[in-house]
Amino acid sequence: MNIERITARSISDTRGRATIETTLTAGPLSATASVPSGKSTGSHEALELRDADGGVATAIAHVQGEIAEALSGRSFATADEIDLFLIALDGTPNKSRLGANALLSVSIAAERLFAQEANVPLWRAIANRAGTTPSAPRLYVNVMNGGVHADFRLPFQEYILVVNGDAIHPMAKNVSAADTYEPLKHAYAAAQQAFAKLGERLGSVALGDEGGYAPTFAALDEPFALLADLVKEFPGTSIAIDAAASELYRDGSYQLLGKSYAANELSFLYEDLVERFPFHSIEDPFSEDAADDFTRFTEALGGKILVIGDDLTVTNPARITEAAGRQEINAVLIKPNQIGTVSEAILAVQETHDAGWKAVASHRSGETNDTFIADFAYGVGAHGIKAGGLGQKERVEKYDRLLAIEQEAGVL
Ligand code: PGA
Ligand code: ZN
Repeated sequence: MNIERITARSISDTRGRATIETTLTAGPLSATASVPSGKSTGSHEALELRDADGGVATAIAHVQGEIAEALSGRSFATADEIDLFLIALDGTPNKSRLGANALLSVSIAAERLFAQEANVPLWRAIANRAGTTPSAPRLYVNVMNGGVHADFRLPFQEYILVVNGDAIHPMAKNVSAADTYEPLKHAYAAAQQAFAKLGERLGSVALGDEGGYAPTFAALDEPFALLADLVKEFPGTSIAIDAAASELYRDGSYQLLGKSYAANELSFLYEDLVERFPFHSIEDPFSEDAADDFTRFTEALGGKILVIGDDLTVTNPARITEAAGRQEINAVLIKPNQIGTVSEAILAVQETHDAGWKAVASHRSGETNDTFIADFAYGVGAHGIKAGGLGQKERVEKYDRLLAIEQEAGVL
């Protein structure tokens, strides 16, 4: 394939901040991709290139200038070839020269072009590339926002209802009926009802960055009591949090609701919560460099829940391999923009699976209307997908895309 034309522009994410959108054309084919942006970013992530004024003019100039010139006149047989070319062109370990945002916008648009050329849906192209079996992920629906996503109205960043479509309907267990059973449709319907019910119980409250409610509570376990009620009402659901503990960490301890916790005290707090409430997973329970605390915690609780690394592993295949050697976690969050190319995000999933761990694909807190992450989650057969709360269109579009994928997969 020859990329003939590359254009890029600045669009606004859900926080109204600038982000990059890129369009590639090759003969009659054309594909566009935009990239999301995090707020509680890990310090080991690839670099998102921003100008002093917060804009992405330099990233756009790199795409339309150096990257466009380098790609022009060359022929690429696969999307992986383009990604390897982009990585070499940047030449830095963390994409700091051209920018991970610039590179990823080209990488995702290229993946779409190759899917079009092969005349297969995007999720199928991703599965072929990754050597994975596509399947419906659990929906990690972020129902209450806290931490830096809601001015710390709640101490933890994300309070999540995990919905497992396969566990909702008894028909799913019946082999002949399971052929026509659509787990994502049922999971999403349950998520919508649960989200509305929680909204009624909370009354009129603000929404946080990820489109979940942003209430306040006097006690740390009150939100969990509310979530546990929902779990009782909705079969196939369970509780997860993203503690995003790097954001709670100050001078060797963790600050929650005005109290200071040492790492072992925070562990006890989590263990107590897991004991009393129906937990499925805890993401980033400790700060990004507290590898030993992760290992101890996973040894203690890894048999009961998923301990997910996000800021710890930053979708970086080398960091995931390192975490595997020390058994720091048993699941990995996969965010393509933390690493900057689709091929490396796929490699991160492969490293995760090689470790015997679960992969959870994830959006970012600053999102666009690009639904690539839905195709990625389904294509790599991820255990789950984090796509946010239902109070924001850019989040809902990911869920809508998942339902469309389920239909496409049913008729192919
Ligand atoms: P971020 O939050 O996109 O602001 O980093 C999401 C997360 O921590 O999982
Ligand atoms: Zn996180």
